[in-house]
Amino acid sequence: MSSDSAGAPPENFLSETELQKLAQMRFPRRRAEWLLGRWTAKRLLAAVEGRDPRAWQVENEADGQPYVQADGERLPGCLSISHRSGQAVCAWTSAPGVALGIDLERIEPRSPAFVRDYFTAAEQVLIAGAARERDAVLVWSAKEAMLKALGRGLRLDTRAVEVLRIANHEEVAGWRGLTVHCPARSELDWWAGWRLAGNFLVTLAVCGQDLDPSTLQVQELRA
Ligand SMILES: CC(C)(COP(=O)(O)OP(=O)(O)OC[C@H]1O[C@@H](n2cnc3c(N)ncnc32)[C@H](O)[C@@H]1OP(=O)(O)O)[C@@H](O)C(=O)NCCC(=O)NCCS
Repeated sequence: MSSDSAGAPPENFLSETELQKLAQMRFPRRRAEWLLGRWTAKRLLAAVEGRDPRAWQVENEADGQPYVQADGERLPGCLSISHRSGQAVCAWTSAPGVALGIDLERIEPRSPAFVRDYFTAAEQVLIAGAARERDAVLVWSAKEAMLKALGRGLRLDTRAVEVLRIANHEEVAGWRGLTVHCPARSELDWWAGWRLAGNFLVTLAVCGQDLDPSTLQVQELRA
């Protein structure tokens, strides 16, 4: 895992098609976050796969899921991106049959109505302790990471995935553990973890067979 403060990203790392996409984005905040997400993803790809960042194209499926192309060919693997408030995180794995999702959230209060609407009954009990404000954000973030790993995002009901346990100490390579499951996809094994980054939380959810979290590649950047 690497973490970095990189300043505003340059635009010259973008491929031709990415430059065209950027030119169509009208809202400055969306432009800045998209650009930082691409920059973070390409820094990670360049670090683990080699090559000039302009050789990669980070595209999105129709449903929003990101993927990587090089020389017109899709790079086998799974990429996930999250960006918020001048920060971005991304994760990549080239392990066959493994999917992942990463999410970045600011720690801030969530209303009781939000928790009631989006969390399962077990999650509502799980977050009722002393760290309630943090844990509500943590459970939400883990759910988003899982929904990204499933490739569907918020098109799926947020209660289709569930956080069962939150560990408060480090378990694997800087990540504190989360026990999660998706009852409708019982064939999937899951590994999930979280960590604090200042006033933000990062969660990572990985699903597939024979998961080995130590092989995951994660990059965090702040603009
Ligand atoms: C994916 C989603 C959960 C991300 O939520 P978010 O907290 O707003 O944003 P994040 O910064 O954490 O993540 C954004 C990234 O998620 C990724 N993403 C989008 N849809 C995805 C999907 N179906 N599967 C996996 N990843 C996805 C993209 O890489 C996106 O960044 P990019 O557009 O710059 O490439 C959410 O945007 C979503 O589900 N969107 C699709 C459904 C939708 O638009 N619903 C309307 C709102 S209810």
